[in-house]
Amino acid sequence: MHLHTILAALASASLTTALPSANTPPRSKPVKTQDIINALAGTYTLVNTSSTLNNVPVPDAAYGEAPVGILTYSKSGYMSATIVATEPAFRPNLTFPYQENDSDADWALIGKHSLGYAGPFSVNEALPANKTGGQLFHGPLVVANVPTWVGTQQKRNYTVIKEGRDTLLRIGSERGGGIGVLWWKRVD
Ligand SMILES: *[C@@H]1O[C@H](CO)[C@@H](O)[C@H](O)[C@H]1NC(C)=O
Ligand SMILES: *[C@@H]1O[C@H](CO)[C@@H](O)[C@H](O)[C@H]1NC(C)=O
Ligand SMILES: *[C@@H]1O[C@H](CO)[C@@H](O)[C@H](O)[C@H]1NC(C)=O
Ligand SMILES: *[C@@H]1O[C@H](CO)[C@@H](O)[C@H](O)[C@H]1NC(C)=O
Ligand SMILES: *[C@@H]1O[C@H](CO)[C@@H](O)[C@H](O)[C@H]1NC(C)=O
Repeated sequence: MHLHTILAALASASLTTALPSANTPPRSKPVKTQDIINALAGTYTLVNTSSTLNNVPVPDAAYGEAPVGILTYSKSGYMSATIVATEPAFRPNLTFPYQENDSDADWALIGKHSLGYAGPFSVNEALPANKTGGQLFHGPLVVANVPTWVGTQQKRNYTVIKEGRDTLLRIGSERGGGIGVLWWKRVD
């Protein structure tokens, strides 16, 4: 572009539109998704879970009242989550691999009160996202104890909260027609 063309363009643009106004803050640069992944990468231990249906708290039927879990995110873009209930009534004391004389009902209880899955994860770039909040896709899942989850992309809203020395990760998702919230604490 020639200098005179640039000058003409500048002249035709009014100063108020050409210069940033005091009322409109500068648009923040979008955060690179790899930077978000690097910031989230680590190991988290489950703090608590809760569920709501139409904004009304409901018992967490699958996880019970005191589940344990570990969630990991790697910088290379892989994740894994394992969560199980701890109530003895949900956890018949079975061994692995299963024994022919094990009861199917006992294994069913364990199945209903456990969740384990892993695969790649990514940041949903269609929504605003930064190192402290946004939406992730867990998946396409490579492995899941629940067969219908294999190959799926699970949407997970994340919020990172500093609480004293702790870094907490709040993960929200839609499940069972309601909303599930899982709080995790960073351990590394
Ligand atoms: C879960 O833990 C978080 C972080 O400590 C806390 O803010 C939240 O109130 C807890 N939720 C429940 C349902 O206990
Ligand atoms: C559970 O099974 C393991 C392995 O067979 C055994 O060592 C343990 O004592 C059992 N625990 C209970 C509470 O029955
Ligand atoms: C199941 O079989 C194993 C080994 O065959 C035995 O040790 C165990 O007691 C049996 N369990 C039940 C519930 O019968
Ligand atoms: C990060 O993104 C979340 C989700 O869009 C937003 O609520 C939050 O204000 C943003 N935080 C910063 C520091 O930009
Ligand atoms: C996740 O975040 C999106 C975008 O802000 C929002 O529309 C959706 O309702 C949230 N879902 C849950 C389960 O919090």
